[in-house]
Amino acid sequence: MRTSSILLRALFAVGAAAILAGPVLAEEPAYEGRKKCSSCHKSEYKSWKETNHAKALESLMPGNKTEEKLKAKLDPDKDYSADKDCVGCHVTGYGKDGGYDPEDPGKYLVGVGCESCHGPGADYRLIHRKAGAAFEKKQETTPREELAAAGQEFHFVERCNACHLNFEGSSWAGAAKPYTPFTPAVDPKYAFDFEKAVRDNKAMHEHYKLDGTFTGEPLPEFHEEFQSEAKPAEKGEEE
Ligand code: HEC
Ligand code: HEC
Ligand code: HEC
Ligand code: HEC
Repeated sequence: MRTSSILLRALFAVGAAAILAGPVLAEEPAYEGRKKCSSCHKSEYKSWKETNHAKALESLMPGNKTEEKLKAKLDPDKDYSADKDCVGCHVTGYGKDGGYDPEDPGKYLVGVGCESCHGPGADYRLIHRKAGAAFEKKQETTPREELAAAGQEFHFVERCNACHLNFEGSSWAGAAKPYTPFTPAVDPKYAFDFEKAVRDNKAMHEHYKLDGTFTGEPLPEFHEEFQSEAKPAEKGEEE
C-alpha cells in the first residue's frame, strides 16, 4: 500500500499527471509522530524541543500565557487544550491520518512537531533510511525529487501560513475557521513574515551539517545559507 503510493507520487513527479489524474494523487501520506525522526536526527530534536513550537499545547492550558490571553480576549482560567477551535494549530497533523487525535493524544504529536513543517513522514522516512544506508556503504546519493514525491515539504510557506496567517481579513487566500486569536490587530508583533521568521529562526531548530545524501531540487532558497553556517550533527539510530 505504502510502496504503491510512493510509486504513484514518483510517477506524478516525472509528469505522468495526465494519465493518473484522480483523487489518489491528492491524498497525503500518514503522519508518523516525531519519535522516529528524533531518534535519527538527535541534534535537530534537542534544539527543537526548546522552542515555543514544541511547547505550543502548554499555551492552551489554564494559568499559562495569562497576559497574552487577556489581550486577545480569551479566558486565562479556561482549559483550551482539547478545544477544537484551538488545538489544530498547537499540535501535529490534527484530524489527519496518523495525526493528533484529542480522544487519544499521542505524546509524539503534541506541539508543532517535525511533520508540521516537513510534511507527513510515513513514506519519506523510509527513503531516508534506505538512502542513508546506501550513502554510508557506497557514497551513493539519492535525488530529492523522490522525497518530494513521497510527501516531504521543501517550500514550507503554505504550511506556516495555514497556522500563522489564518484569521479573518488575512492576506492569505486559504483563511478559514477556526482562526487564530493572535492577529496583528491584537498586537503588531503577531504579523507574520515568512522570510524573516525562517531566517531569524527563533522557532525551528538550529541547523546542522548534512553529508550530502540527497541531491538536486527541490531546495529552499535559504538551504545553502543555512548549510554554510551549520554545526556538526549528532546522529542516531532509528528506534
Ligand atoms: C501547526 C501550526 C503551525 C505551523 C505549521 C507553524 N507554526 Fe509557528 N507557531 C505556531 C504556534 C501555535 C505558535 C505559538 C507557540 C506558543 O508559544 O504556544 C507558533 C510560534 C511561532 C513563532 C514565534 C516563536 C517565538 O518564540 O516567539 C515563530 C517565529 C514561528 N512560529 C514561525 C513559524 C514558521 C517560519 C513556520 C513554517 C516554517 C511555522 N511557524 C509553522 C503554529 C504553527
Ligand atoms: C489557525 C491556527 C490557530 C488557532 C485555531 C489557534 N491558534 Fe493559538 N496561536 C497560533 C499561532 C500561529 C500562534 C503564534 C503567534 C505568534 O507568536 O506570532 C499562536 C499563539 C497562541 C498563544 C501564545 C501567544 C503568545 O504571545 O505567546 C496562545 C496562548 C494561544 N495561541 C491560544 C489559543 C487559543 C486559546 C485558541 C482557541 C481559542 C487558539 N490559540 C487557536 C495559531 C492558532
Ligand atoms: C517550524 C518548522 C520546522 C519544524 C517544527 C522542524 N523543522 Fe526541520 N527544518 C525546517 C527548515 C525551514 C529547515 C531548513 C531546510 C533546508 O535547509 O533545506 C529544516 C531543516 C531540517 C534538517 C536538515 C538539516 C538542518 O539541520 O538544517 C533536518 C534533518 C530537520 N530539519 C529535521 C527536523 C526534525 C527531526 C524535526 C522535529 C524534531 C524538525 N526538523 C522540526 C523547519 C522545521
Ligand atoms: C532511519 C533514520 C532516519 C529517519 C527515521 C528519518 N531520517 Fe531524515 N534523514 C536521514 C538521513 C540519513 C538523511 C541524510 C542526511 C545527510 O545527508 O547528512 C536525512 C535527511 C533529512 C533531511 C534533509 C533532506 C535534504 O534536503 O537533504 C530532513 C529535512 C529530514 N531528514 C527530516 C526527517 C523527518 C522530519 C523525519 C521523520 C518524519 C525523518 N527525517 C526521519 C535519516 C533518517
